[in-house]
Amino acid sequence: EIESRHRLRGGWGGGGDREWGRGLPYDSALSQEALETLAEEAGFSGSEGRSLAFTRAASVLKALPGRLSTLEELGPLPGIGEHSRRVIQDVLEDGVCAEVERVKLSERYQTMKLFTKIFGVGVRTASRWYQEGLRTLVDLQERGTKLTRQQQAGLRHYDDLNTPVERGEAESISRAVQGAVQRCLPGTSVTLAGGFRRGKPHGHDVDLLLTHPEAGREAGLLSRVVSWLDSQDLILYQHSQENSYALQEGPEPPGGRDVMDRFERCFSIFRLEVQGGPGAARGWKAVRVDLVVAPISQFPFALLGWTGSRHFERELRRFASHERKMVLNSHALYDSRRNLFLPAVSEEEIFQHLGLEYVPPAQRNT
Ligand code: GTP
Ligand code: MN
Ligand code: MN
Repeated sequence: EIESRHRLRGGWGGGGDREWGRGLPYDSALSQEALETLAEEAGFSGSEGRSLAFTRAASVLKALPGRLSTLEELGPLPGIGEHSRRVIQDVLEDGVCAEVERVKLSERYQTMKLFTKIFGVGVRTASRWYQEGLRTLVDLQERGTKLTRQQQAGLRHYDDLNTPVERGEAESISRAVQGAVQRCLPGTSVTLAGGFRRGKPHGHDVDLLLTHPEAGREAGLLSRVVSWLDSQDLILYQHSQENSYALQEGPEPPGGRDVMDRFERCFSIFRLEVQGGPGAARGWKAVRVDLVVAPISQFPFALLGWTGSRHFERELRRFASHERKMVLNSHALYDSRRNLFLPAVSEEEIFQHLGLEYVPPAQRNT
C-alpha cells in the first residue's frame, strides 16, 4: 500500500492508477475545508498570493460535478498546485491532512481567528495584538487595549455578529430600509445583493443596494435614510463614507486587487427585533448591514460587483483584463483597446460586452 501511495505521489494524472480509490466514494467538502483553512492561515501570515492559490484550488473542487473518488480526476484540472494536491491526497487517504490539523490547533491560528471575527479588526491589528500577548476577548477589555468605535461595537455585539443571518431576517431588514427610503425619497429602489441574492440561505451580513431611476436624485439620500432609521432606534452603530467616484478620472488601474469601490455607503449594525433564536430573551439581535447607493447609470455594475462572490468577482475582473483588455469594477466597464466606457442597463449586457454567457446569481457561488 505504501508503495502505491508513493507511486501516486509521483504520478499525478498518469492514468495508470485507475483502480485506486474505487469503492471509496469521497465527498470533496472535506478537502475544500482543508484548503480553505490553509487559505485563511496564509492570509493571517500576510501571504496573499499563497492564500489566493489555496482559495482557487478549493473553488475548483467546489465546481467539480459530483463526488471526487479518484486522484486522477484532478489530473487535468488547472488551478490546483502541488501543495494543494498533497493536501487533497492526504484527505483522500486518511480523512485528514496533518498539516491542516496542526494549523487548526495552533494558538496563533485560533487567536487570529477569534480577533479577526471582531467587526473592524483586520489581519494587521489581530496580528499586533497576538504579538503583544493578547489571547482572548476578555484580555482586550481587561488590558485596556485601545479600540476604535467600530471595534468597540464589534466587541459588544461579538456573539450576535458571529451568528449567521437568516434569509427571513435579511428580508425583514430590507423591508425596514424600504420603508425608510419611501419616506426620504419615494421611487428609490432597494435591492438585496450579496450572498442572499445568490440564493444562500444565510450570510454574515445584509448587503443592500439603493438607487433612484432619475439620475442625481440619489445624492444625499443615504444620510437622510440613516438618520431616520436611527431615530427609530434601528441602528446600533454606523459609519458612512461619501461618494468619491468621478468617471472623468478614468478607470482604476487594472490588476489592483480588491479595490474598494467609491460609492456612498454605510457600514452599520442594525437592531433587529426577533422572536426566536439567540437574542430571543432580549427581543432583539444585532445584524451587520451594508448600505450602498449607486447612481442609476452605474447600478448594473454595482449590482454585479456587490452580488459576489468575492472569488467570482476576482475571476471575472481578471478575465476582463487578461482576455479582453477591459477594466471591470463596480462603477463601470472600460475598453482599453478602444479607449471607451461600455455602458449597460443590465447585468446581462455587461456579460455581453465581455463576450460571456450570462451567469445567473445562483451560479456565482464559486
Ligand atoms: P456573506 O455576507 O458572508 O454571506 O457573503 P457575501 O458574498 O455577501 O460577502 P460580502 O457581504 O462580504 O460581500 C458581498 C459582495 O460585495 C462581494 O462580492 C464583495 O466583493 C463585495 N464587496 C464587499 N465590500 C465591498 C467593498 O467595499 N467594495 C466593493 N467594490 N465590493 C465590496
Ligand atoms: Mn454579504
Ligand atoms: Mn457585505
